[in-house]
Amino acid sequence: MGITGRRNQEIYDVVGIGFGPSNLSLAIALDEHGASAPQHPVKAHFFERQPSFGWHRNMVLPSTTMQISFMKDLATFRNPMSRFTFISYLHASNRLVQFVNNQDFFPTRKEFHQYLEWAAAGLADRVTYGAEVTSIRPAAGSGDLSPDLLEVEVRGADGTTSVVTARNVAISTGLVPRLPEGVTADERVWHSSQFLGRFNAQSPDDLKSVAVVGAGQSAAEITRFLHDSLPHAQVRAIVPSYGYSVADDTPFANQVFDPTAVDDYYFGTDRGRDAFWRYHRNTNYSVVDADVIRDLYQRAYAEEVSGVKRLHFSNLTRVAEVRRAGSATQVVLRSLLDDRTEELSVDALVFATGYDGMDPARLLGDFDRHFQRDAAGRHRVERDYRLVPASDLTCGVYLQGGTEHSHGLSSSLLSNIAVRSGEIADSIMLRRTERELERDRPVEAAPPAA
Ligand code: FDA
Ligand code: NAP
Repeated sequence: MGITGRRNQEIYDVVGIGFGPSNLSLAIALDEHGASAPQHPVKAHFFERQPSFGWHRNMVLPSTTMQISFMKDLATFRNPMSRFTFISYLHASNRLVQFVNNQDFFPTRKEFHQYLEWAAAGLADRVTYGAEVTSIRPAAGSGDLSPDLLEVEVRGADGTTSVVTARNVAISTGLVPRLPEGVTADERVWHSSQFLGRFNAQSPDDLKSVAVVGAGQSAAEITRFLHDSLPHAQVRAIVPSYGYSVADDTPFANQVFDPTAVDDYYFGTDRGRDAFWRYHRNTNYSVVDADVIRDLYQRAYAEEVSGVKRLHFSNLTRVAEVRRAGSATQVVLRSLLDDRTEELSVDALVFATGYDGMDPARLLGDFDRHFQRDAAGRHRVERDYRLVPASDLTCGVYLQGGTEHSHGLSSSLLSNIAVRSGEIADSIMLRRTERELERDRPVEAAPPAA
């Protein structure tokens, strides 16, 4: 479907906003629902602002690997028979045998990206690329107090705007890059989400001194990449902790990403939810895979041995200020040890300072007040990932992401997307069936007047 027309008359069962892995997985779940009920297919369409499918392209660094098993793909945990599993992709690519010989649960990010592109290509008729959704609102005339239809406004790559109508939307617009307060990105100051694009736009000869801020997986991978790619450069890691900490992916801790952990989190007490975070934040945030930590330490040690040092670590250090003038960048570092500051001059500064969770409010605008928030001001979300309406809305706004507070740690990750998408698809279908039963219920004759 193109988006050239002003208004598309069709009413979709669901419109998906964003076509990253989460909504791609939803498209598959809906497709498989449709296959089991071909007389009554689901009308779904997805809008993606990128010109083609892309999954964190600026971080597909050489030799980086996935942080989940290949079986936590778009479909397997929901339907191992799906034609969109990673194994089906390997089979279609004539690599299944070699993959097994390789004996590795964790594919490279490059291979997983190819898998996702392959799956997206299989559903190309359901997505419009180069199409950014700019707002979601109740459809005019669909009932002011209990609207049953939504209007989704979409801006095409050429700037034209169109509107589509849907009974449900699934918002999956992804993580939002976070820079420290007062820092602005430009051609020499980058967030990790921009990394490869920005790096490739520079001549390596102009990068003689570079620094990377942060102690998470992105920071460690970029530090290693810069050390490899700029053999003439000084590379400094600005590490807020005393040294990188390991990402706990041992089996018991890894259970926090199991589909059943969602129920435990969702239906648990506040104390229980708090315990998830207290004990298991180190499965994901501000932590690094052990092999990357060892690799970086071995490099530093080899430089100690050779006496030629160009990989440096500023531990217990945060960035206090960044000053920019032309191609010069001065960064003021503050040591957490003694509060002393130090100035560093660099040719490029990379902030691998993480992301904020998805917030649907930006797209909902004024419509957001139709949805309930908890005492902490966060959206209330049903177990089936539907925003809890403040009135009896019959249309549905589903979230894929932005639900860490309600559904737990896997909210922004791939671990649970197959199961979550199945749950959302089931919910959409169930509500459609209930609506149809309601509509078809015979009107009871009024009792005769006495
Ligand atoms: P994702 O961000 O992938 O997709 C959102 C899409 O929506 C984007 O394509 C964006 O362009 C589009 N979009 C945004 N706004 C829009 C709008 N208004 N209109 C239309 N389109 C819009 N997790 C994990 O479990 N294992 C892993 O190995 C990794 N690896 C990893 C590497 C890196 C570098 C990062 C930054 C993150 C990870 N993650 C991860 C976590 C990551 O969140 C996860 O892999 C997925 O990207 C989540 O998929 P989503 O589809 O939810 O978001
Ligand atoms: P992250 O884990 O949130 O780490 C951000 C880091 O930046 C933290 O160490 C944080 O320190 C630090 N920081 C923030 N502000 C700072 C400041 N002013 N000065 C110094 N340090 C500062 O972010 P991430 O590494 O981008 O990871 C995000 C997600 O992407 C995770 O899920 C991760 O697993 C995933 N990822 C996966 C891969 C892969 O699959 N290979 C690669 C990269 C990322 P504090 O802890 O003190 O705030």
